[in-house]
Amino acid sequence: MSEGGEGWVRVARRDELAQGEVIGVEVGGRSIAIYDCDGQLYATDNICTHAYACLSDGWLDGTVIECPLHAARFDVRTGAVLDPPATEDLKSYPVRVVEGEIEVKLD
Ligand code: FES
Repeated sequence: MSEGGEGWVRVARRDELAQGEVIGVEVGGRSIAIYDCDGQLYATDNICTHAYACLSDGWLDGTVIECPLHAARFDVRTGAVLDPPATEDLKSYPVRVVEGEIEVKLD
């Protein structure tokens, strides 16, 4: 991880994330999930708001991630919870690509 300035942090190479896939990264003491939805990138907290599971181990369908543990679903574009048993939204983060590197803006 390295600082890109103004809170932007490099988390992975763009070519490490294939289309339609999700990866988990550890950055700034947080676990963050990065999603590729048809080439568009999104980032949210990686830990489900219901119990303890990594969403990066779940299933990405379009812009929806399904938790591998109890199947709660979230919209990865906003972090909004779509289906129970989770009731709390995920935090989402701005994400961009600079010189082939994925950067996430932490606050
Ligand atoms: S831990 Fe994700 S739905 Fe329960």
